[in-house]
Amino acid sequence: MIGLVRPAAIDDAAAIARVHVASWRTTYSGLLPAEFLDSLDDERYSERWLRSLGDEATRVYVAEDGHEVVAFASGGRERAGEGDYSGELYAIYVLEKAQRQGHGKGLVRAVTAGLREMGLDDMIVWVLRDNSPARAFYERLGGVYVRTQPITIGSVVLQEVSYGWRSLDDVRV
Ligand SMILES: CC(C)(COP(=O)(O)OP(=O)(O)OC[C@H]1O[C@@H](n2cnc3c(N)ncnc32)[C@H](O)[C@@H]1OP(=O)(O)O)[C@@H](O)C(=O)NCCC(=O)NCCS
Repeated sequence: MIGLVRPAAIDDAAAIARVHVASWRTTYSGLLPAEFLDSLDDERYSERWLRSLGDEATRVYVAEDGHEVVAFASGGRERAGEGDYSGELYAIYVLEKAQRQGHGKGLVRAVTAGLREMGLDDMIVWVLRDNSPARAFYERLGGVYVRTQPITIGSVVLQEVSYGWRSLDDVRV
């Protein structure tokens, strides 16, 4: 059963932070240093998300299962100067227990609608090269590999890859 996807409200900051930190820990254990993952703090992310939620330029959506926020995604104007793309999926995280139930697809659908509202008509996303499940998800959605670049997270340098959709009509959700 697919839960409700809705635009996030200011009041969702703490719930989004909780999903953010919990899913970073399960997703990146083995990819990022344990000390770094241990150091992630719900409170600090809650403040960050409060700022993002107050920023008109960022669209944030949550997926609920019952009354619990189990996933979120955000997007907006492409922010790293990737000339060929104007829209970007900034982040998408689904709690481990809620994965493979369609929340991810529902959230991407919402973000693409948000990008269209902003007048954007394509989308790029960055993902760690070694995050195979997420790469499979973007490939399933029709994302086309764009390029690889290094990224520093905490104290480590990893590789990230991008997937692009030349038109939002090509996003298979
Ligand atoms: C990647 C992620 C966003 C996908 O969301 P989801 O709700 O689990 O995925 P959905 O149920 O919408 O899946 C849609 C389709 O994508 C593909 N897919 C999703 N997860 C997959 C996986 N782990 N392996 C292979 N294919 C996958 C499947 O084709 C799936 O359809 P199916 O379940 O009918 O086979 C989610 O699993 C997640 O948050 N993962 C951890 C955090 C993360 O890596 N975020 C991305 C950072 S860039």
